[in-house]
Amino acid sequence: MTQWTLMIHGGAGILRPDTLPADQAEGARAGLNAALDAGAGVLANGGSALDAVEAAVRVLEDDPHFNAGRGAVLSFDGCVCLDAAIMDGSGRQAGGVTGVSATKNPVSLARRVMTATPHVLLSGTGADQFAREQGLEQADESWFATPERRRQLEELRARVDGWFDAEMKYGTVGAVACDAQGHVAAATSTGGVTGKRWGRIGDTPLVGAGTYADDRACAVSATGSGEYFIRAGVGHEIAARVRLTGEDIATAAAAVLADVQALGGTGGVIVAAPDGTAHWAFTTPGMFRGQTDASGHRAVAIFGDE
Ligand code: GLY
Repeated sequence: MTQWTLMIHGGAGILRPDTLPADQAEGARAGLNAALDAGAGVLANGGSALDAVEAAVRVLEDDPHFNAGRGAVLSFDGCVCLDAAIMDGSGRQAGGVTGVSATKNPVSLARRVMTATPHVLLSGTGADQFAREQGLEQADESWFATPERRRQLEELRARVDGWFDAEMKYGTVGAVACDAQGHVAAATSTGGVTGKRWGRIGDTPLVGAGTYADDRACAVSATGSGEYFIRAGVGHEIAARVRLTGEDIATAAAAVLADVQALGGTGGVIVAAPDGTAHWAFTTPGMFRGQTDASGHRAVAIFGDE
């Protein structure tokens, strides 16, 4: 039996005590703990890594402190456009959705894409239609769009150079896990970046970029400037280094984040290996993050020096 482990993130960015109000930090820590509770409850009862990452990400999607599901950032035209993916390392099965605007928990829709269709990635109104056909809970704009996200969009719209939130302050959520059988899984969910236009898609729903899992190597969930994470193929690249060169997950994660940085991007990753080890790494001042495992260890942190 492998010692199970669960690691989560709620987004990387310019997170410091002087940029993140204390009440928001406290709320985010409570949300991270709730997500760890949900995923750990699955794993402690002998459940699968796949069920655990979905359970943890659903909690973060429902929590308005994070940029996914409820509390997702808004696109330039004021709409929610949600992306998510999930991957099972045991057979490299994967599912993703992009541009979803009516499905309450995009991570669960991504899982249905994986299990109930022959496809890997569905988009837009078709993906929401599939969610309805699958009986997944729907929600309207008032559930997703919080007053704070509307204020952030207006702030961005007022800037003459506002392509989108170039500082990527509002993150993404994700989870990686290894279960007692030594299987790994990853899930990631996001609203993308504030002010995105023209159907922009980031790394989150793209298998091999923001989300990847392979029992022969590791599971990866990323957060950061998606365009760079796509160009570096972050999830697959970390797994390929582990599998083909024998690097440990910390060395592989550091090397790939350095490559992203060389391209001009910043962010973070969480990684879980089939031996029950897990590692987080980030090149931003902070990352909402948490970890727990079968030994009872638990850690929740936000800032870089914690
Ligand atoms: N990393 C999330 C995004 O760029 O959409």
